Amino acid sequence: MISSPLMTVMVDAVRKAAKGLKRDYGEIENLQVSRKGPGNFVSAADRKAEEVLRDALMKARPGYGLILEESGNIEGQDKSHTWHVDPLDGTTNFLHGIPHFAISVGLERDGQIVAGVIYDPAKDELFVAERGKGAYLNNRRLRVSGRTDMADALVAYGSPYLGRGDHPKLLREVAAVMAVTGGARRFGSAALDLAYVACGRSDLYWERDLQTWDIAAGIILVREAGGFVTSADGGAEPLAARSVACGNENLHGELVKLLRRANA
Ligand code: IPD
Ligand code: CA
Ligand code: CA
Ligand code: CA
Repeated sequence: MISSPLMTVMVDAVRKAAKGLKRDYGEIENLQVSRKGPGNFVSAADRKAEEVLRDALMKARPGYGLILEESGNIEGQDKSHTWHVDPLDGTTNFLHGIPHFAISVGLERDGQIVAGVIYDPAKDELFVAERGKGAYLNNRRLRVSGRTDMADALVAYGSPYLGRGDHPKLLREVAAVMAVTGGARRFGSAALDLAYVACGRSDLYWERDLQTWDIAAGIILVREAGGFVTSADGGAEPLAARSVACGNENLHGELVKLLRRANA
């Protein structure tokens, strides 16, 4: 585990918000749900968890800015620090009673992600990483998978909501990946998709049309676990591109090449 004042702030905030999520998950049929766009839902659980996170982070680090999925941006006096907060990543899974969703909090300092926490309340799995201090799942140090052969690789991907992003392009990419790898999966939480690469469950993951709160924490997790993260096009700034391709050193380049060829 990482013991630092920053990690304590992040883990305490996330655990506090998770209590409400667990309660709400037990009674999803009573939750107030509204639609932000086609196929894109938000519930009272997302909003309540975000309030808890916002209050805890603002109290512990008053000057930092926040980028929050449900309530927008809050500017801080300290221009060099920004939290990226997704109070419930995998809302669709959550609302369908599928126990695969997470809270994700990442901290950006001067353009670089320096710490990330992703918590999966249904499985009680806490993923944490801080720059230079490694990545952990509960108390276990993480390392990306060591597979070297695409034919053995399990590859996760994500697809944007109805009416957003380029679905035909994604289908070309998925077909290309399925033709040469051990399996393709769409789990439904970008934060956990990144965390699963960090802990070696998935070998690779890619997705486009994301937001910074989906990926900020996961990017540092994968990097601190020894993995490579770029944008889906292979660019060096996934956070700015709001897209990711990640995996171990052996296979990451293969994935990026495969995606490029699928679109050529
Ligand atoms: C979504 C999930 C999903 C991804 C979508 C995200 P949300 O986040 O991470 O896996 O494919 O692009 O928007 O809305 O459940 O927080
Ligand atoms: Ca959402
Ligand atoms: Ca999300
Ligand atoms: Ca969300």
